[in-house]
Amino acid sequence: MKRVLSGIRATGRLHLGNYLGAVKGMLELQDNEEYETFYMVADVHTITTPYDVEELRRNRREVILDYLAAGLDPEKSVIFQQSEVNEHLELSFYLSSVVTVAKMQHLPTFKDKVKQFPEHVTMALLNYPVLMAADILAYKAQSVPVGIDQEPHLEVVREIARRFNQDYGTNFPEPTRFKTQGEYVPSLTGEGKMSKSVEGSYINLTDSLDVIKSKIAKIPTDEGRGEEIKGGVKSLFEFVGLFQGKEKKDELESKYKDEGVRYGEIKNELSEAIYNELKPIQEKRAEFENNPELVDKIISEGNKKARVVASQTLIEVKKAMGLS
Ligand code: TRP
Repeated sequence: MKRVLSGIRATGRLHLGNYLGAVKGMLELQDNEEYETFYMVADVHTITTPYDVEELRRNRREVILDYLAAGLDPEKSVIFQQSEVNEHLELSFYLSSVVTVAKMQHLPTFKDKVKQFPEHVTMALLNYPVLMAADILAYKAQSVPVGIDQEPHLEVVREIARRFNQDYGTNFPEPTRFKTQGEYVPSLTGEGKMSKSVEGSYINLTDSLDVIKSKIAKIPTDEGRGEEIKGGVKSLFEFVGLFQGKEKKDELESKYKDEGVRYGEIKNELSEAIYNELKPIQEKRAEFENNPELVDKIISEGNKKARVVASQTLIEVKKAMGLS
């Protein structure tokens, strides 16, 4: 059976970017009988940039609650915590033996983080993509539902798989990205993508209608008419497309270029549409929040199931490398 693996860093509650870019793809594949699906919270990746210990302790569980709320189903998927499966860390070291430092230093994702945290350019950060390769290859996953920004990392994973197979005769598949419709979710600021690390850029899955309204209200707009759609207006129309359909978006775009649009109405309707999608998720989340023993059980069983598969891969790898 083909396998799927994906994960999200434990930097906080999930936002719409995570949901549309990754979680929707996870849900789609979980319902596909041809795949065995493994979904983790990437809590170890969180320590590659500065973080708060108490926050991480909370978030490695919060992300799982968001997963369950969004519809990841422990009957269909293995839901687990990366740090509880030691094999990921062990495999990442073995894999690092076929990766050059120069290659890692040249990745755009690495350079971005160096700019963001010039005082924290650590070995852990440099190893970020290698750990991600271990996450995926420990399960020999072929398909990875993640946002488009992760493509450079997946390129590295494929290269590592190829190189390792060549050198050691292993049979790692070269994984590809499973694309979703909302793979690029713009920032509410009108610049770049929605991201946890940019204040004011995101809507959380747990936001109330009022919070959503006030965040959407802050998307920068203009007089409502013009030749070129750009900045905040572009983001706003993008969101309309994602939550109210492409037709509605096309209609607004042509109106913008013709008689003009009124943002008050658009923003209100959009906020309602977003909330309508999030409401069932929030209700489901409340159920899980009220049943912590069930969540504990789901996590510990998921961790156990993940270990069974990952440890099998480690046995093969050690054998192939002359370490057993
Ligand atoms: N790097 C991913 C992100 O920032 C998170 C991640 C860690 C991941 N390990 C993974 C995603 C393995 C997919 C597969 O979104």
